[in-house]
Amino acid sequence: MLRRVLKEVKEYKAASIATPIFMIMEVIMEMMIPFLMASIIDDGVNKGDMNHIMKVGLLMIGVAVIGLIAGVLGGVYGSKASTGFAKNLRKAMFENIQSFSFASIDKFSTAGLVTRLTTDVNTMQMGYQMFLRMMMRAPSSLIIALVMSYIISPSIANIYLMAVLVMGVAVFFILRRSMRYFKQAFPKYDALNESVQENVSAIRVVKSYVREDYETNKFKKASEAIYRIFVKAEGSTVYLNPLMSLTVYACIILISWIGAKMIVSSTLTTGELMSLLSYCMNILMSLMIFSMMFVMMSMGSASLGRIYEVLCEKSDIVNPENPFYEVKDGSIDFDDVSFAYNKNAHSRVLKDINLHIASGESIGIIGATGSAKTSMVNLISRLYDVTEGSLKVGGIDVRDYDLVTLRDNVSVVLQNNTLFSGSIYDNLRWGNPNATDEECHHAAELACAAEFIDKMPDGYNTHIEQGGNNVSGGQKQRLCIARALLKKPKILILDDSTSAVDTATDKKIRKAFREEIPGTTRIIIAQRISSVMDCDRIIVLNNGQIDGVGSHDELVQNNEIYREVFESQTQGNGDFDEGKEAR
Ligand SMILES: Nc1ncnc2c1ncn2[C@@H]1O[C@H](COP(=O)(O)OP(=O)(O)OP(=O)(O)O)[C@@H](O)[C@H]1O
Ligand SMILES: [Mg+2]
Repeated sequence: MLRRVLKEVKEYKAASIATPIFMIMEVIMEMMIPFLMASIIDDGVNKGDMNHIMKVGLLMIGVAVIGLIAGVLGGVYGSKASTGFAKNLRKAMFENIQSFSFASIDKFSTAGLVTRLTTDVNTMQMGYQMFLRMMMRAPSSLIIALVMSYIISPSIANIYLMAVLVMGVAVFFILRRSMRYFKQAFPKYDALNESVQENVSAIRVVKSYVREDYETNKFKKASEAIYRIFVKAEGSTVYLNPLMSLTVYACIILISWIGAKMIVSSTLTTGELMSLLSYCMNILMSLMIFSMMFVMMSMGSASLGRIYEVLCEKSDIVNPENPFYEVKDGSIDFDDVSFAYNKNAHSRVLKDINLHIASGESIGIIGATGSAKTSMVNLISRLYDVTEGSLKVGGIDVRDYDLVTLRDNVSVVLQNNTLFSGSIYDNLRWGNPNATDEECHHAAELACAAEFIDKMPDGYNTHIEQGGNNVSGGQKQRLCIARALLKKPKILILDDSTSAVDTATDKKIRKAFREEIPGTTRIIIAQRISSVMDCDRIIVLNNGQIDGVGSHDELVQNNEIYREVFESQTQGNGDFDEGKEAR
């Protein structure tokens, strides 16, 4: 896992190696200072040797400057390596997310992916920086200081060793407790982001339902959950600092006491006692850094797992080995197709679908909400793969096609389609980046979008806001249809794509399709019978199964569900509820 994630260090390998080297240099320089200090006091001050003080003093300045430069360089390279690493991680994750199938997106949820791309990568970045700067610094500082102390006075160094052991055990238990809480914190971030994302992207709906208070409460709950976990986690780490101070002071008192006795009995010099005291600080500081490093790394390891999941998620919808690059025609064959969103579930959303659609045929699909109309057509362009059975387009299984070829030839106007910020031209050219202006105009005319685009002050250069918020629902649907048409597909699927378009325009669009693209297989999902009644064949879906297939007249005669819907829609001038109330 670690290896896969660390692969993203890439061009920052040199900086990652340089950082600990500079940090070790800094430690060595730091460790020399107490030694030189002792020499100044014992051989210079105590003996009144000015020359020695000058010489060693200059050396000390030199050592300090080198240490300072090494420290700065270590810091610079450390930040460069860690931010670069984070950048590469984000890029790799984003690229992989682009290849995700709809099923993978369902699995992680959009909010979960956003947290992983932001919060988790940031934690990883901080963890990595800490690791690079401290992984060598803390242990080497600890070891060198201990060795130096042993050289000066083994009996005093033993006190340090005891202190290190006591602190080590205490830190271990404290951190074990806090780590548990840190690990719980990240899934809570997902909930927080979900609340923010849902609220902000659907702010208009929230406002129209006057749900601000509810949403604010939801957010408050999510952020309080994070607050509580961090208070718990930090609650145990607060003992670290006082414990540290206690140990330092206890050591200083002990050393001063023992040291004073040793000086009196001439087994230790004043200078040596002074350097021992500095080493004492060094040792305990490194312990402190160690503990911080563990906190960061435990948080980092929680993030590491979450990042790894995104990096290694393999889309189950991938290109086959020797794909077909040509779709012969627009015929579609469903052979015993069953489908479930969750592969392990027993119940199927679609059950035993057998259906053969000839190239150029126009097919209507009608059925109650949740009857799996969308699920059925999503299989054709391989947004999901069938669970059982086989689905052929142009006589070849969809899983044997090159994905781009298949999706270029099967154009779907999704049920919840969206536009992107940019001009109308930009949006239309999502369908075909090389489309000429004339081709764009033609597609817009077929989709009955030209009539309102021409009335806009900037025409096709009119700016569309994010999500298409500055055009009406019906206009948005027509732009989405025009965009799908620009692909010049062999199969065109409209999933409830004219629901917001008035009946007359809806009819005009269908007429244009019939006349202008007669060779294209058209599948139209609709709630209104009038939208599908002139199709060659209509499929009635019920609970994921085909209940009836036939032309409008045939179905009115033979199919109960169809007849009921038809009658209810034609009474009371086409409005079911009105008709009922009138009765
Ligand atoms: N991404 C998904 N993950 C899991 N279950 C899903 C998903 N999308 C739809 N379903 C389930 O599959 C079933 C069929 O849904 P589908 O969207 O195909 O219905 P539909 O006929 O298109 O409905 P509508 O007319 O409302 O658009 C529903 O029970 C729904 O809960
Ligand atoms: Mg649907």
